[in-house]
Amino acid sequence: MGFMTKALTVTALAALGHASPLLYPRANADNVTFVFTNAHGLNFTQMNSTLPNVTILATGGTIAGSSADNTATTGYQAGAIGIQDLIDAVPEMLDIANVAGVQVANVGSSDVTSNILLDMARTLNEVVCEDATMSGAVVTHGTDTLEETAFFLDATVNCRKPIVVVGAMRPSTAISADGPFNLLQSVTVASVPSARDRGGLIVMNDRVMSAFYTTKTNANTLDTFKAVEMGNLGAIVSNTPYFFYPPVEPTGKMTFDVRNVSSIPRVDILYSYQDMHNDTLYDAVRNGAEGIVIAGSGAGSVSSSFDSAIADMVESYGIPVVASTRTGNGEVPPSDEARIGSGYLNPQKSRVWLGLLLAENKTVEEIRGAFARVAVA
Ligand code: SIN
Repeated sequence: MGFMTKALTVTALAALGHASPLLYPRANADNVTFVFTNAHGLNFTQMNSTLPNVTILATGGTIAGSSADNTATTGYQAGAIGIQDLIDAVPEMLDIANVAGVQVANVGSSDVTSNILLDMARTLNEVVCEDATMSGAVVTHGTDTLEETAFFLDATVNCRKPIVVVGAMRPSTAISADGPFNLLQSVTVASVPSARDRGGLIVMNDRVMSAFYTTKTNANTLDTFKAVEMGNLGAIVSNTPYFFYPPVEPTGKMTFDVRNVSSIPRVDILYSYQDMHNDTLYDAVRNGAEGIVIAGSGAGSVSSSFDSAIADMVESYGIPVVASTRTGNGEVPPSDEARIGSGYLNPQKSRVWLGLLLAENKTVEEIRGAFARVAVA
């Protein structure tokens, strides 16, 4: 089912056939709101026609999670609540923006695939970037792989508008669930002109962060998302965003046009450890990997035996091998060796970056150059 079809069925805001921009009433439990269907078939809930328009793509995760136990912060069902219920739970957002919800998926984020990402990128380019009436977009997402989606969309949604990825660490049924406020804050950031020209954004826990650098640093806590060296772009106080610096995009960032990309080549991540076996590298390639990222120890190191296997892989088979770091922070410098240093990109972001570069048929040396631009060369 295509996105537009899902938008119409899942949001259930209006009968088909109403032409934009006619408004018609929608009664809910507490009040009457108005909806309109835009030129892309998105159904917007509208309280005030002067407000900005924001599209929300929903993918599932803890922000849409549910548990019978309101103290459970693990072991609950992620992706149990639909987008319209999330919107209805935060009516305050309708004082900020006219919103349209699109249910892209309703899964734990480990089940978000590169095909879902490609569909989302194409949809956002079309219904947000190319539509002058749209202010920005929000993507609700599980936090476990949120940074991969945010990084991918940052690279592939090519416009100046804010694309904000948001999640929650507590399911919607928990005491002090963080999802509703995170969602309100992300819709707010997607609405404000000061959020433009900053690349993809992550909004969680009262902070606005760069999608390029930010990573999940803790399996459980609310303040898990951080870019340790690069810091936050801004903070949100009383639902008002404050940006610490004028708009700027990350050094070395590249943009990719995925309109004609039908799939992303497989890239595997191999974790470095003592006694690591070379056969993991050959097995990955034999099973279809077209690129490899190593989560190396320290600044990308692997055993000398594994290093020889990497050289064989690059020189004999032309498979790019990017060395990142398993430490969670810091830089892997470019090197003259066969392996490519990942610069400041962690293993999971390096995997996304390498997949996009391979989708554009870049050579090993072009790939080396792309990573060198996010490193001290
Ligand atoms: C998920 O990533 O889908 C589950 C965990 C979370 O959203 O925090």
